[in-house]
Formats: sequence, structure tokens, C-alpha cells
Amino acid sequence: MTHAHAIDSREVAAWLKGAYPGGDAALFAQARLVQDELVGPEVRLRGLLEVSNYCGCDCLYCGIRRNAAVPRFDLSDADIGAAADQCVAAGFGSMTVQAGERRDQAFVERVTGIVTAIKERTRSERLPEGLGITLSVGEQSTSVYSQWRAAGAHRYLLRIETSDPDLFARLHPARQRYETRVAALRSLKATGFQLGTGVMIGIPGQSEEQLAADIIFFRDVDADMIGMGPYIPSRAAMFAPVSADGGGAPPSADVLTPDRSPRERLRLTLRMIAATRIVLGDVNIAATTALQALSATGREAGLRAGANVLMPIVTPVQARGGYQLYDGKPCVDEESAACAACTPWRAARAGRPVIRDAWGDAPHATTSAYRKGDQS
Ligand code: 5AD
Repeated sequence: MTHAHAIDSREVAAWLKGAYPGGDAALFAQARLVQDELVGPEVRLRGLLEVSNYCGCDCLYCGIRRNAAVPRFDLSDADIGAAADQCVAAGFGSMTVQAGERRDQAFVERVTGIVTAIKERTRSERLPEGLGITLSVGEQSTSVYSQWRAAGAHRYLLRIETSDPDLFARLHPARQRYETRVAALRSLKATGFQLGTGVMIGIPGQSEEQLAADIIFFRDVDADMIGMGPYIPSRAAMFAPVSADGGGAPPSADVLTPDRSPRERLRLTLRMIAATRIVLGDVNIAATTALQALSATGREAGLRAGANVLMPIVTPVQARGGYQLYDGKPCVDEESAACAACTPWRAARAGRPVIRDAWGDAPHATTSAYRKGDQS
């Protein structure tokens, strides 16, 4: 492979510090070269549906964690069906179904039901296998993953958040363990899901060396998709007590107060996208909504730095305010139709064509012997 790059994590850390030969412009240009050759210039679209903000986890940074004082919602089946229809109508060949993490049987069955229903209602001449479905509903047992895979979901997003076990431990209550998260990622691969993972960038105390190690981690778990975004503080998360093993007090400020400015976090995220593209090559990389929280054109910048996936939000507008993982989340007051129109426009502004009516799997997933990919 022309662009296979012998990984030296010290070299990657240097890029993240801005020391790529020729500077960031050259780093991003190299990432685009790799992208054009290995995944093509086209942007893949997934409608992002935030189904529920009920959550059993208490990740210290997250605005919908269990103890955060926010009203909880759960979309109706009718809302979910309507959102799926909108994705089909807009030509998004895929949908990402995300929710807070729950492990009770009712939730497991509900997700199975949602996947089955979306598949049934979206099979057509246009999409013979229905919408591609990505799930993003947290750590589960292997048998639950198998059940959801059998129901028709074929991709799964579960961020490692940081591959450094000590930093992970600082950000989560003790019962949420790093080892369990890694085991869930391996179990997802074994179950036959295309695997997505990622990290937050600019976590207080996080170094460029740790971020370079994150990219090596992505390679080692054989990720097919990467979703990364800047860390952005959430007041709801900061002021809520930490449950049980956290002693009931709010998290200390040094864990959650950013030590890099929004500009620095934006720049670091773009460098991470580019470095990930150069090191991993043929994976899908999302330009996430959080980038746009730091800059009005953050997602376009992500596409120019090597990202090839956009995830327009299709959550009904009345529920959007309830799904604020961080403060200042953009698009909270937008109707889904506005997001559906805005996203291709953003791709065009970044000089990119979009793929319509296709699942848009990463070549990394579809060319592997053990994975079947697109319906086409
Ligand atoms: N800032 C940025 N990203 C966040 N997430 C949760 N809270 C925040 C925050 N404060 C991200 C996590 C999670 C994803 C669903 O949202 O990375 O995996």
C-alpha cells in the first residue's frame, strides 16, 4: 500500500504539537491524499437519532450522566419511525441510533425492536437491505451484542474516551472500568459488528503523547470507524454529585476544567483527525457535531483534515434540548429538515461530493475476509 505508514508514536505526538514538516496545512494535505487514495473524496452521511437520555452511567464529564439534573425523555415508536423515513427521503443510506446506556432487559428488547422496525420499514427498491444501522448504546454483554447484530444492526460505536487507563479512571466512577470497556470493544468485533471507537480531545491533563497512543490503540483494536471530538465542559455534569463510589460530591474542578483554550482544542482535534487518517488509512472518520460547537465551520474543517463522515441530527426538535452531552451543542433548535439540508451544503463548502442511498461502509470493514459490507 502506497501510504502504509510505519507508526512511530513519538512522531505522531510531534505532529499533534504542530511540528509536522510544512506545518498543519501540509499535515491536512497529506491526510487528504491518503483519504483520496484509500476511501475516496465522498462524504458518507448517517442520520443521528438520539432515542433516549436515560442513562445508568455516571461519566463525570457527561451532561446526561445518571446524576445530572436534566429532564429525561424517551422517543415514541412513531417518532423513531418518522425519523427513519426522513433519513430515507433525504438519501442518507444509514442511521445511527444512540441513547444513554442501560442494561435492563426492557432496554435490550426495545433496541432489538427499534432495529427490527427500522429495517422492516426502510427496505425498498432504493435500499434493498434497508437503512444501514449503527448502534451507539454502550457496554453490553456478548449475547446482547449478538442479538442486536442478528436483528440487523451492523455497525457499533463505543468510544474508549482515552486509551490511558489512569486518565480513564479519573474521568469515571470506579465501577466503570477501563478493562470492561476494552473487553466490550473486542466482543463487538467478535460478534461481527463493524467497530467504531474514539476519544475526547483536550481532556484536562491529556498530553499529545497520550493522544498519539490513542491512535495506536485504534489500530490495535482494529477499528473500522473513528469518532472523535473536542472535550467541551458541561455545567450539568460539573455540578452533579458523583454516585455511590464517588462519595456523593461533585467532581473536582481540576478533572473537568479545560486546560487548553477552545481554539487549541479545535486545532488539536483537526490534527488528531489528520494523524488518524494518515496512520489508519482506509477507515471512516466522522467530523463530529462537537467540532461545530467550537467553530461555526468546525465540521467543514474536519472534512478538510481527513474526515469523511457527517452525521446530521434527525432527533425531533422537541427532544434535542434533552440530549446535551456538553454545553453549547449546536443545532439544538433546528428542525430535522434543516439539518438534512445543511449537511450536504457543509460537505459542498468543503469541496466534497456526498454519497446518497448507500450504507457507506469503510473499505477497512468491507475488504476484510470476515465482514460483508454494502448492499450494492
Ligand atoms: N465533551 C465532549 N464530548 C462528550 N461526550 C460526552 N460528554 C462530553 C463532553 N463533555 C462524548 C463522549 C461519548 C459521546 C457519546 O459523547 O465521548 O462517548
